[in-house]
Amino acid sequence: MSIPYLAERNGQKILMVEDKPFIMLAGEVHNSNSSSVKYMEGVWEKAQKLGMNSLLMPVTWEMVEPEEGKFDFSVVDGLILQARMLGKHIGFLWFGAWKNAQCYYAPAWVKKNLTTFRRAEMKKGENYCNLEKFYGMPYTSLSYLCEATKTADAKAFATLMEHIREIDEKDNTVIVVQVENETGVMGEAREQSDLADELFASPVPQDFVDYMKSHTETMVEPIKTAVQSGAASGSWAEVFGTAADEIFSAYYIAGYVNTVAAAGKEKYPLPMTVNCWLDKGAEPGIYPSGGPVRKVMEVWKYCAPAIDVMGPDIYVPNFCEICDAYSQNGNPLFIPECATHSYAGLRQVYTVGHHHAMCYSPFGFEEMGEPFSAQQMYLFGADVDDPALQTPQNVDEYRFFSESLQEMMPLLCEKYGTSDLQAVISESEENKMMFGELGIMTMGQMPGAPKRPGVCMAVKVSEDTFYLLVKGMMVIPFSTNPEKPHLDVLVLEDGHFENGEWKPCRRLNGDEVASMNYNEPTLLKLQLFAYK
Ligand code: DGJ
Repeated sequence: MSIPYLAERNGQKILMVEDKPFIMLAGEVHNSNSSSVKYMEGVWEKAQKLGMNSLLMPVTWEMVEPEEGKFDFSVVDGLILQARMLGKHIGFLWFGAWKNAQCYYAPAWVKKNLTTFRRAEMKKGENYCNLEKFYGMPYTSLSYLCEATKTADAKAFATLMEHIREIDEKDNTVIVVQVENETGVMGEAREQSDLADELFASPVPQDFVDYMKSHTETMVEPIKTAVQSGAASGSWAEVFGTAADEIFSAYYIAGYVNTVAAAGKEKYPLPMTVNCWLDKGAEPGIYPSGGPVRKVMEVWKYCAPAIDVMGPDIYVPNFCEICDAYSQNGNPLFIPECATHSYAGLRQVYTVGHHHAMCYSPFGFEEMGEPFSAQQMYLFGADVDDPALQTPQNVDEYRFFSESLQEMMPLLCEKYGTSDLQAVISESEENKMMFGELGIMTMGQMPGAPKRPGVCMAVKVSEDTFYLLVKGMMVIPFSTNPEKPHLDVLVLEDGHFENGEWKPCRRLNGDEVASMNYNEPTLLKLQLFAYK
C-alpha cells in the first residue's frame, strides 16, 4: 500500500489515501488546542458530532524542538494515536518561522538569538515596529532572507517528517502537511534591510524573468501588466515595475518554504500545501506581502515546486469568487480555513459538488453552533447585509451534510473531474445544472418569500437517474430535447447510502413531486422520463 499521494482523475487532482480517492471533510482546530492531547479529547468529540473525517492541527516548532537539536514528539504521537482510535485522519500544520506573518511559534532559542536568526526589518534598522496602516499593531517577524533561520526551520521540519514516517508509514493517519502558516510580511511590501535593498537592486535571476514573461496568460492584474511592460532583464524595479516589491517578497518567501518542504519530503514525501491570508484588494503590507495570494501564484509555482497545493483561508463574504480564483491552472480547491457561520454546511456541499474540492475545513469548529465571539463577528463580515453571515451554523445540519457526503464518497470521487457532478449555491447567480438534454434548475427565493440560503448538489448515475443533496431550494427538472420536451418524475425518494448502496426511506411521488421544495437538508433519488 502506498503512502498518501496526489493523482489525477478525469483531469482533476485528487488525494489518494490507501490507494483510494479521499475527500477531506475536515475541521481546523484552534491554534492552541493540539498542544494538549488531553484537551483534544473534547475536540475529537465535537469533530465526531460534526461528521468530520479528518482534522487539520498545528504542530509548532517551539513544541517539537524546545532546545536546539533536542526533539520531543510526545504530543505528535498522542494526536496520531487519538486519530487512529477514531478512524480519522490528520493534516498537520507546520507552524515554523511563520504563523500569520509573524513568528509566534519559533522556539525561544531562535527568538532570543537576534543576530543569528535575524528579524525582518520592516523599518530600516528595526527588529520591531507598529503597523501604522494596521491599527498600530505591534509587529515582528523572522527575515525571509536569513539563511540560518531557513536551515534551522528546514532541519526541524525534516526531523518531524522523519518521525511521522517512522510511526505512521504503515497506518496513513497523517495524510497531508501544510508548510508554515499564512506567510508574508506586514507593514511594507518587502523587507527594508540593507541586504534586502542590495538584492532588490541586483539583477533578477534571468530564468525567473523568462518564466514570468512566458506565463502572463494565467496572471491577474496588476501583476500581469507589470510583468508585460517591464524590462527583459535588469533589477527588480526594472523588470517588475510597480509590482516589484511584492514579487521580490514572494520569490524569497516561496523559495524559503520550498527549502523547508523539500527537506521534509526527502524524509517522507506526503502531499504538501500552503495557506493564504487573502489580499482583499488591499495594498501589500496591509495583508502579508509575499504570501501565496492569487496574484503571485505564478511566482509560488515557479519558486516552490515542492508545494503541491495552495489553499485560501476564506472568511470574506465573496466565497464563490475566491473558490474560483483558487481552482485554476491545475490547483485543486483545498480550503484549510473558513467561517463557521450558517453558510458553512452549504459551502461544504457546494465545494465538493461544484469544485470537486480536495479539502473543506471550517476553522475553530470547536465552537460551531455557539454564539459568535467579537473576533468571529469581525472576521465573518458582520457589517454585511446578510443575516446568514451572522448566524451560527446548525450542528445537526452540518453533520447531515458531512455524513451524506462521506456515505457518497466513492460515487463522488468516481465523478470528480466530470460534468456528472455539479452543484449550485444561493451565494452565486448560477441556478442551472445541465446533464446532456436533462437539466435541473433551482429556485432559492420562493415567490413572495424572503431570500434564503441554499445549496443543491446533483450527481448523475445513469441517463435518467440522479442523487440530489439539497437544502433551501426548490428543484425544477427540465428537458431541452425538442423531441421529448415533457418530463415525468418516475421516482422521487428520500434516503441515505450504506456501504455504497441506496437505502430509500419514503416514496415521494405525490404532493412532494408537485412542489419539490426543501427547507430541511435532504438526500434524494430522482428518476426522470422525457417524452412528447
Ligand atoms: C488565520 C490563521 O491561519 C489561523 O491560524 C487563525 O489565526 C485564524 N486566522 C483566526 O481567525
